[in-house]
Amino acid sequence: GRHLIEPMDFSIDELEEIFNLADEIIANPENFKDICNGKLLATLFYEPSTRTRFSFEAAMYRLGGKVIGFSEPNSSSVAKGESIADTIRTIGCYADIAVMRHPKEGAPKVASFYSNIPVINAGDGGHQHPTQTLTDLLTIRAIKGKLSNLTIGFCGDLKFGRTVHSLIKAMSRYENIKFILVSPEELKVPEYIKKEVLEKNNIEFEEIEKLEDSIQKLDILYMTRVQKERFFNEEDYIRLKDSYILDKEKMNNAKKDMIVLHPLPRVNEISYEVDEDPRACYFKQAQYGMYVRMALIAKLLGVC
Ligand code: CP
Repeated sequence: GRHLIEPMDFSIDELEEIFNLADEIIANPENFKDICNGKLLATLFYEPSTRTRFSFEAAMYRLGGKVIGFSEPNSSSVAKGESIADTIRTIGCYADIAVMRHPKEGAPKVASFYSNIPVINAGDGGHQHPTQTLTDLLTIRAIKGKLSNLTIGFCGDLKFGRTVHSLIKAMSRYENIKFILVSPEELKVPEYIKKEVLEKNNIEFEEIEKLEDSIQKLDILYMTRVQKERFFNEEDYIRLKDSYILDKEKMNNAKKDMIVLHPLPRVNEISYEVDEDPRACYFKQAQYGMYVRMALIAKLLGVC
C-alpha cells in the first residue's frame, strides 16, 4: 500500500491532484459526504495534538467514515510494552487506514514497514510533519494563488520544528523560492537539511537572527513555537522561549500582502493583537488542514 511518511513521498503532480480534490471538496462538500462509508480510520497518537487529530477525525466523519484510536497510548497495550510493529499489525486487522504521531523520529516509517494498510505520519519527534505541509501548501496556494516565486521567512525554533523541516523540503521543489531563516544560533535549521535540500538544489537562503532585519522582504512569514518538549534542559528553554514575538509594530514594516502562517499551537510568539490583522492567516490555515486531510484520506483509500 501507499503511505505518507515524509513530504517527498508524493510528486508535485500528485500533490496538485490532492489540492485540486481539496478545492472540489471545499466547493461541494455534499458530493463527498458518503465516499468513505464503511471505512475506518485509526488514530494512534503517542503525543498530544489538537489540530492534527481533530482535523483527521473531522475529515473522516465528513467523508462518511468512522474513527477508532487512542490519544493516550497508556490506555492501550503500549503500556505493557507492545512494539510499534505489533501494534500496527493489529490495527491493520481492524482499520482501513492509520494516522500515527510519535515522539520518536522514524516511528511511523517503522510502522509502515509492518503495515498492510496506509500509514500517515502525523508528526515524528523533531523530524517531519508531512500533513502539516499539505495544509501549509494548500493555504499558500489558496491565498497567494501560487506556490512559486515566493520569499518565505521561517522564524523561531528551526532546529526542532518538524513543520519547518517538512515545508522547506516541499517548497524547495517549486520555482524561484527563497528562504530567510530567522532563529537564535542554537535553534538553526539542522545541517542535514541545509546540505541535502538547500545547497544540493542551489536554493537561495540566508540565516539571520533578527526578524526586523528582513520582514519587509517576505511574502510569507511562517512563525513557530519554541518546542519545549524537545529540549534537554529547562534553562535553555527558558532562555530561548521568547526569542521572537510578532506584534503590530513589526507587522507595520511587512508588505501589505504578506501572510502570516503558524502551524499552531502558539505560546507567546504571536501577540493576540496580530489576530485582527487581515494578513494573519493561521486559523484559516487550520481550517484548510481538515479539507486537505479529507482529500488525502480519499486518495489513499482509492475512493476518489
Ligand atoms: N499543527 C499541529 O500539528 O498542531 P497539533 O499539535 O495541535 O496537532
